[in-house]
Formats: sequence, structure tokens, C-alpha cells
Amino acid sequence: RLSSTKELLADAERGGYAVGAFNVYNLEGVEAVIAAAEEQKSPAILQIHPGALKQGGVALVACCISAAEQATVPITVHFDHGSSKKELIEVLELGVDSIMVDGSHLPFKENISYTKYMSSLAHAKGMTVEAELGRLSGTEDDLTVQEYEAKLTDVNQAQEFIDATGIDALAVCIGNVHGKYPASGPKLRLDLLKNLYDLASKNEVFLVLHGASGLPKELVQDCIKLGVRKFNVNTEVRKAYMDVLKTPHTDLVHLIAAAKEAMKAVIANKMHLFGSAGTA
Ligand code: G3H
Ligand code: 13P
Ligand code: ZN
Ligand code: NA
Repeated sequence: RLSSTKELLADAERGGYAVGAFNVYNLEGVEAVIAAAEEQKSPAILQIHPGALKQGGVALVACCISAAEQATVPITVHFDHGSSKKELIEVLELGVDSIMVDGSHLPFKENISYTKYMSSLAHAKGMTVEAELGRLSGTEDDLTVQEYEAKLTDVNQAQEFIDATGIDALAVCIGNVHGKYPASGPKLRLDLLKNLYDLASKNEVFLVLHGASGLPKELVQDCIKLGVRKFNVNTEVRKAYMDVLKTPHTDLVHLIAAAKEAMKAVIANKMHLFGSAGTA
């Protein structure tokens, strides 16, 4: 059934687990998330990236909403990385349940004013709002220690950011990256995460971690203990799809079915790892 992102996160907070937000690009992706969620009795978030919206258009959004409505477990539809006003204002009309207002490319004060403005429009429509403070690095960025630290979420700024914008969920930068982690493995600043959770709890804000693909089990569990309630997963699911495309297939229907199965297996695995399996 179509649910509310804030409620999913509040349930996760009460239960001490996290909900997976899986980026979807087409019907196979949507069906893989729903099938995994139903089989694992888990809530899930169907997450649409601006790049996916560009390809799939309003039909992709409608597909997500309709699939969520028909599901036997709680599902929500979220718009990911909304980095422009124009784009987000269009998205507000599409009926998604939550949005990420991504002003992380802006200087702090501008991020505040952008997030505050978009958040007031989204809240007027009853939507849940996520925003990012700090700036996620890419694996390929060759940063000095100082440059790296400058991009982490600042706890003092976080309080001001939450107060000024009224957001419901905060995406944190603690060393997490989109895509692959370096061969040496991910290094997360769990001390920083702990401080951010203390602050978020006092403000009834939920913590979100982008870049969850590639995080080992132990780190995921540490993050959940330290308050992460939403993990964004994209790369691992895409890779499962792409790997199927690389194998020889003579029939389109078989190819679609194989792609769905491959994505579903990755997603189901994450639902167990995040502790959301069995809660719906
Ligand atoms: O990070 C999430 C918050 O801890 C939620 O806080 O339990 O006070 O609503 P709450
Ligand atoms: P990954 O591609 O690393 O899973 O990150 C996904 C993400 O953060 C989408 O917003
Ligand atoms: Zn992201
Ligand atoms: Na990642």
C-alpha cells in the first residue's frame, strides 16, 4: 500500500532498523523492489533520480505510485537529488510522497535558503523532505585530508540547518560515497555519525545515508545502531541488471525476467541487512 516516507522512517526509528530506498529506472526495477518487499515482508522506498525521470518521465512516476498502491506492504515514492527549483517545482505536481532537496552543491547559507523554500512548498503538500548537508565525494576524487574534511557534515551547521529549514530527514556525509568505494574499503566517521544522531534525535529528524552500495555488513550495522534510518542503494542494483544484459540471451521476455530476478536478489539481501525484512 502507498505509505508515507516519514511514517516508514518513524517505524524504523522505533524498531531500530533502516529502510532501503532503491533507485528505479524502469518497470523491471519497480517490480523487483515490490516483489522483494512482498516476499521479505519489508517496507521499501521506490526512489527516482532526476536522470531516471528524464528517461521515464511521468509514466515512470505513475508506474511507481500504482505499484505502491497495489503492494501488500508499505511502499513510498521518493524523488532523489532534486538540485534545481524548477525541477522540484515540477516534481511537486507528480504525486510523489517525499523529495530530497539537494542543495549540497551550494554554499551553506544558500543551501539553507534553497532548502527552506523548497521544504515549505513540499510541506504544504504534506510531503516528507530530506536534505543534505556537507558534500558527498566521489570515489575518483583525489582529495587532500583538508579537502575531504571540509566536505563532511558539520554538527554545528546541522543544528542551524535543521532549525532554519524544518526538514524531516538529513542526508549526512561521513565518508560515504556514491558508486564504488576505494579498494582499501570504506572509512566512515562513526564518531561524527554518533554526534549527528544525538542532534537529530533531539530535533525529531531522521538520518539518511547515501552511497550504501559497497558498504560491508558490519559498517551497515554500526550505522543503524548510530541512527541511520534510510539507506540509498543504486549501484549494486544497476550492476545486477547490467550483468544480466552482458550474458547471451535469445529471448527478450527471458532477459526481462532474469534482470528482475537478479535485482530482486540484491534488494532482498539489503532488506535483511537493514533489518527491515519481517517488519511489514
Ligand atoms: O534520527 C531520527 C530521530 O532520532 C527521530 O527522533 O524518535 O525523536 O522522532 P524521534
Ligand atoms: P550508490 O550508488 O552508492 O548505492 O548510492 C545511491 C544513492 O545515494 C542514490 O541517491
Ligand atoms: Zn545519493
Ligand atoms: Na556506494
